[in-house]
Amino acid sequence: MTPSTLIRLLSACLALATSACTTAQTVLVAGASGKTGVPLVKSLQAEGYKVRAMVRDKAKAGEFAPGVEIVEADVTKPETLTAAVAGARYVISAIGASAAKPPNNPEAVDYRGVANLADAAKAAGVKHLVLMSSIGAGDDNPSTPLNRMFGMVLSWKGKGESHLRSSGVPYTIVRPGGLVDCDGGKEALRVGAGDSNLSGRVCRADVALVMMDALRNPEAAGKTVALVGDSKAPANDWRADWKAVARDSAP
Ligand SMILES: NC(=O)c1ccc[n+]([C@@H]2O[C@H](COP(=O)([O-])OP(=O)(O)OC[C@H]3O[C@@H](n4cnc5c(N)ncnc54)[C@H](OP(=O)(O)O)[C@@H]3O)[C@@H](O)[C@H]2O)c1
Repeated sequence: MTPSTLIRLLSACLALATSACTTAQTVLVAGASGKTGVPLVKSLQAEGYKVRAMVRDKAKAGEFAPGVEIVEADVTKPETLTAAVAGARYVISAIGASAAKPPNNPEAVDYRGVANLADAAKAAGVKHLVLMSSIGAGDDNPSTPLNRMFGMVLSWKGKGESHLRSSGVPYTIVRPGGLVDCDGGKEALRVGAGDSNLSGRVCRADVALVMMDALRNPEAAGKTVALVGDSKAPANDWRADWKAVARDSAP
């Protein structure tokens, strides 16, 4: 083998190793254009992940930082998800219905759309899917204000969660309290059991940090947690809270 052939071979191996390494760290963010999706993409990039931002319409999605890959897909159209998920090691979903009524309502997005995403992730061999849900998910009472005002959203979110739990893809479900826009990492957070009586508000940027942490935190796997913030208390070591939450027992 001539020296130049050897150099070409080594370069090819190096390129292969680099791309394999990059693929291993790709996170698909569904809902990347949303109010939680935007800080989530930033946090993941800052942490060194390769981010693939999933949006429904590139033209309307706004600007992403250099290095963010953009992919168009819609969770109500499962055929669009195969390419979006291909090669991603992780998926984080911050999607949510845009209207109480069809076509992009809670049944279509928070239930059937989440189910489509979970199935696509399973088929693609995704290592972990983190789903942003909501405190109260699974409440089937039509009189609950959120259900009454927004197309039974809590009920449909519960059905989406159940599908994810039984999909076979490793998962974490984060149920935040009322979302507000503020800087992440500034106030205390409480991570509790999904069905605990935690209530209150939480910064979207903090939800993003907690969901990112769940990707690699073995204590987060197979759990459903509630998440709220405490604006009166300084940032705390909320990662320790994961341990106290039991793993989900059944879908
Ligand atoms: N508001 C609250 O206080 C509260 C509390 C707890 C939990 N949550 C839940 O938390 C999640 C995130 O909330 P947020 O306020 O950050 O959301 P948001 O700003 O409304 O963003 C929602 C995202 O979902 C995407 N999306 C909607 N329909 C889609 C579809 N068919 N396919 C793919 N993507 C779709 C949107 O993309 P486009 O840009 O293409 O529309 C957008 O990026 C939601 O599920 C919400 O219900 C909200």
